[in-house]
Amino acid sequence: MYVIGIDLGTSGVKALLISENGDIVSRAFEEYPLYTPFPGWSEQKPEEWWEAVKKVIKVVSASVRPEEIVAISFSGQMHGAVFLDKDGEVIRPAILWNDTRTFNERAWITQKAGGESNLIQMVGNPPLEGFTLPKIIWLRNNEPENFSKLHKVLLPKDYIVYKLTGRMVSEVSDAAGTAIYDVKNRKWSEELAKILELDISIFPEVIESFDVAGKVSKKMADEIGLSPNTLVIPGGADNACGAVGNGIIKEGLFLGSVGTSGVVLSPTSQPKFDPEGRIHFFNHSVPNMWYNMGVILSAGFSLSWFKNNFAKLEGMVQEISGISAYEIINAEVEKVPIGSEALIFLPYLNGERTPHKDAKVRGAFIGISARHTKAHFARAVMEGVTYALRDSLEIMKSLGILPVEVRITGGGAKSKVWQQIMADIFKVEVKTIQVDEGPAFGAAIIAAVGSKLFNSFDEAAEKFVKLGKTIEPIEKNSRIYDELYEIFRSLYPALKDKYEKLFNIAVKTSKGDENE
Ligand code: XUL
Repeated sequence: MYVIGIDLGTSGVKALLISENGDIVSRAFEEYPLYTPFPGWSEQKPEEWWEAVKKVIKVVSASVRPEEIVAISFSGQMHGAVFLDKDGEVIRPAILWNDTRTFNERAWITQKAGGESNLIQMVGNPPLEGFTLPKIIWLRNNEPENFSKLHKVLLPKDYIVYKLTGRMVSEVSDAAGTAIYDVKNRKWSEELAKILELDISIFPEVIESFDVAGKVSKKMADEIGLSPNTLVIPGGADNACGAVGNGIIKEGLFLGSVGTSGVVLSPTSQPKFDPEGRIHFFNHSVPNMWYNMGVILSAGFSLSWFKNNFAKLEGMVQEISGISAYEIINAEVEKVPIGSEALIFLPYLNGERTPHKDAKVRGAFIGISARHTKAHFARAVMEGVTYALRDSLEIMKSLGILPVEVRITGGGAKSKVWQQIMADIFKVEVKTIQVDEGPAFGAAIIAAVGSKLFNSFDEAAEKFVKLGKTIEPIEKNSRIYDELYEIFRSLYPALKDKYEKLFNIAVKTSKGDENE
């Protein structure tokens, strides 16, 4: 028996066909465009997602008989708004998680609801620009004609579930990221809908991540080559699925992810959340669990920015010899002392979400001396990103969510030197994962549990999740990092009032992209 796990990401869709033993039998990836019609806008066409999803399903299912695929499930980019009319047709392009046009709507919602802390009490999170609720209000304010046609708002992966089954439905982990789902009480907030004069019926029914949404409709089964008996399980938000795929389904386990952005996530069996809303509080995909999550916007991105701008030579070596530029950077970084001889990097290249919630903050190198070389700067980038992740860990610790083990994933987790930096700065045992396939793997686990191939997530994780090596923190390194981290923390408040001015000057003087 097999399951399919699909991750509907921002750059493309990935599909995995997995056997009941947890072996990956085949995989496929298909890209689709991202549209930025105005600065700060970020949109995709749901119809283009759907075409890409059909292609990857066809590729991964080709090697087995349709009836052998018992279930298909999804991981999805969070927070996006897919606007559908009463016939289930897409009204306009979907507005994505990284779209920042809703600045005014965020302020208006916050003011109408009597302040951010009221909202956090009501639904568990502030209505950040990227979240779904401000996008709906934006539609009402700016495209009234489209708003008048609005019948349902779906999250991105839920649109695919709708196309496969004909059912408009969501599940707890993605509903949580809308900022109008009451995360603690697991229901849409009628109270908030009333305050904002929104008709609650535009939101779909919410089920559990592992419930059965339906079966593949006959028409779609014929078109894609799946069996009409294949179960469609809604799956979860990409971060919830990333957690499931790494076995982060119990208290004490933390996920540390260094991809383009960076994530620190940990499950709780009770609804514990930050009253200041610095970290997100969402429903997990496993039964009766929640998780807290900090997101930093420029994690691996900081190192790739550094490589692309300041390590061109390493890039050329890569082209000639095939040795990756990152491998060369890693080897140089290993020679630099712990703490980069007191050079500190603030990784706010694209503004920051956790803990500052500040779109205008920018990065910095502090403490540059004549001793510092390019390798010091590269090490400082890795350390600065890890300090920023530690901010989330510290907020969680202050809520009583204590780390026993951090499992690391994403591109940054492949670097040996960065692995040790993480263990030393987090001051906790860090483990790598053998099969680092990202959220699609978690979606496949949800499919396996939802179709009863396994009785529980524990059982499925036991079979599917294979840990790699363990990295212990080195105490004398941690002592140095503790000192530097205290300084790192003090830098944002010290520089805060300069950023707004710098931001405005940057806007005024920027030449924009030459090829635009
Ligand atoms: C989480 C978030 C991103 C998106 C991107 O809050 O905004 O991780 O889910 O995939």
